[in-house]
Amino acid sequence: MTNFLASYSRTHYSGELRRSHVGQEVVLLGWVQGRRDLGGRIFIDLRDRSGLSQLVFGPDISATAHSEADALRSEFCIGIVGTVKLRSDSGGQANANLPTGEVEVECRVLHIFSRAETPPFQIEDDVETREEIRLKYRYLDLRRPKLQRNFQLRSKLYRATRDYFHNNGFWEFETPFMVKYTPGGARNFLVPSRLNAGKFYALAESPQIFKQLFMVSGMDRYFQIVRCFRDEDLRQDRQPEFTQIDVEMSFVTEESLQTMMEGLVVQIWKETIGVEIPRPFQRLPYKEVMAKYGEDKPDLRNPLLLHDITAIVKAHDGGGVPLFKSTVDAGGIVKLLRIPGEHAQKISGTEARKLEDSVKGLGAKGLGSARLEAAAATGAAAAWTQSPFAKTLSSALREAIAEAIGLTPGDLLLFQFGSPKLCNTVLASLRQQLGKRLELITPSWRFLWVTDFPMFEQAEGDKWVAAHHPFTSPRPEDVELLGKDNGAVLARAYDLVLNGNEIAGGSIRIHQREVQAKVFAALGLSEDDFRAKFGFLLDAFKYGPPPHGGIAFGVDRLAMLLTEAESLRDVIAFPKTQHGTDLMSDCPTEVAPKQLDELFIRLAPRATN
Ligand code: AMO
Repeated sequence: MTNFLASYSRTHYSGELRRSHVGQEVVLLGWVQGRRDLGGRIFIDLRDRSGLSQLVFGPDISATAHSEADALRSEFCIGIVGTVKLRSDSGGQANANLPTGEVEVECRVLHIFSRAETPPFQIEDDVETREEIRLKYRYLDLRRPKLQRNFQLRSKLYRATRDYFHNNGFWEFETPFMVKYTPGGARNFLVPSRLNAGKFYALAESPQIFKQLFMVSGMDRYFQIVRCFRDEDLRQDRQPEFTQIDVEMSFVTEESLQTMMEGLVVQIWKETIGVEIPRPFQRLPYKEVMAKYGEDKPDLRNPLLLHDITAIVKAHDGGGVPLFKSTVDAGGIVKLLRIPGEHAQKISGTEARKLEDSVKGLGAKGLGSARLEAAAATGAAAAWTQSPFAKTLSSALREAIAEAIGLTPGDLLLFQFGSPKLCNTVLASLRQQLGKRLELITPSWRFLWVTDFPMFEQAEGDKWVAAHHPFTSPRPEDVELLGKDNGAVLARAYDLVLNGNEIAGGSIRIHQREVQAKVFAALGLSEDDFRAKFGFLLDAFKYGPPPHGGIAFGVDRLAMLLTEAESLRDVIAFPKTQHGTDLMSDCPTEVAPKQLDELFIRLAPRATN
């Protein structure tokens, strides 16, 4: 039969068949997962995107189909017509591991659409194949059920997002990918312009300026599911092209925008994995987050906490511990990670000493530790044991620390001294490492709004750079500090963090020209400097811009968390490697000199070594 599809249409997906279909004639289309020849009958597992069904070919069912089935091999693409039977009726056994395991299809017609060479790896979950091979044959990798489920979920995520925004009065727009290059922010990819010799477009790192212009245009509520491009160093949670759910709203406060976004998150979780997320989400200012967790995207499922004891150490003039004293005298801080006794007992002295090695790569010179005596008399602060500080530590400082933190006998304390950056990096990393090692991270969804970020970061010398972007509004009460005490200015910026991942970030923007001018001045830039880069935005802001704010979610990160994938590559259909390459199409590539000539580009000789 040559024209199978003209004669038959699919009646079911392969993974749908159940006991209730017994007796029905079905038409299935899909791929051969496996083939067994048993006692004159041929059994085929047929796979499509919904799952597997068992097909049976026998001379008693159809001699023609049976003899054709002899040729079937893995990954042949076929169509069949047959009747659904209970496996037990033909003396077979139900397969409890398969949703379709009670039934099989006795096939009377077989059509081979196309044959397949032996694939480079078995198409099944948990196959032990190097990722490079999977990426080279990505179209086969994408046949694996796990990846198909990931992409089905991603599709549901898009749908939930669009439904939510359309139901809440948002309009969906597109913005240009090829935009004017502006320095600062992420590094841009450049695109040479053939029609404008020697000039370049940049690929948009986000639609930031355009969405603000939509607000000036009176569009009120905008969203877009949009690709963004950033020439960054890649990690497990970063890709050079990635997707954002991009949002901007007029006449909002932080709280009203965040409440609207919580609604989106709730809808996405419900529609994709059927989980009800409670609202409102927790909110914590940046300062408190850094103090407790040492990083601005903490995993709140981990109960371990950091404690800054600088003030106590200072009040006791180092409490007899030379390192404490020299650190605070030099303006450094003393911070500790507390492992409560019930967990600390699982960490041997040897393991505690080895922790030091694990943080040396982060710039730590060492790792101080102390264990509180387990059998301390009630009421008295426990003595410190297994500790380099124990000998000289004054009991007054020991008691003050125990009281301030609420230490209990058996606790393990891990110390770091020096700059806040070093202490936080080291202790945040230990917190994560030990949270996992001690199995303290129980599966749950812990959302956190981190608010009140610093407006500026100090670059080299006494230069300041915008921590978010230069259109982020400072808090009204901090405007007068601009240019006077930049380090103290807090921004109306917020991030949404989920289980240790930054899933969204945004801010209320500046809409008053005077404030914008003060921010430029604080950044050490004249209005002319800024005009050269963002002139069109400044011009637009002359014409009655509404107060507005926005946010962008990382879709790939959302999909990665929802599918419990280990890497963004498992939720991006055709991803790039850590080196920014596409192994399937072998990209990027060199191009012919003629093409470069057309673009007025000459390659510089590359250094050889
Ligand atoms: P931001 O730069 O914080 O904000 O990006 C928003 C979110 O996008 C995701 N993300 C990435 N995901 C994968 N690969 C990357 N390379 C990558 N970079 C960022 C993160 C992040 O939280 N225009 C502003 C938003 C605004 O102010 O409205 C912006 O782009 O999940």
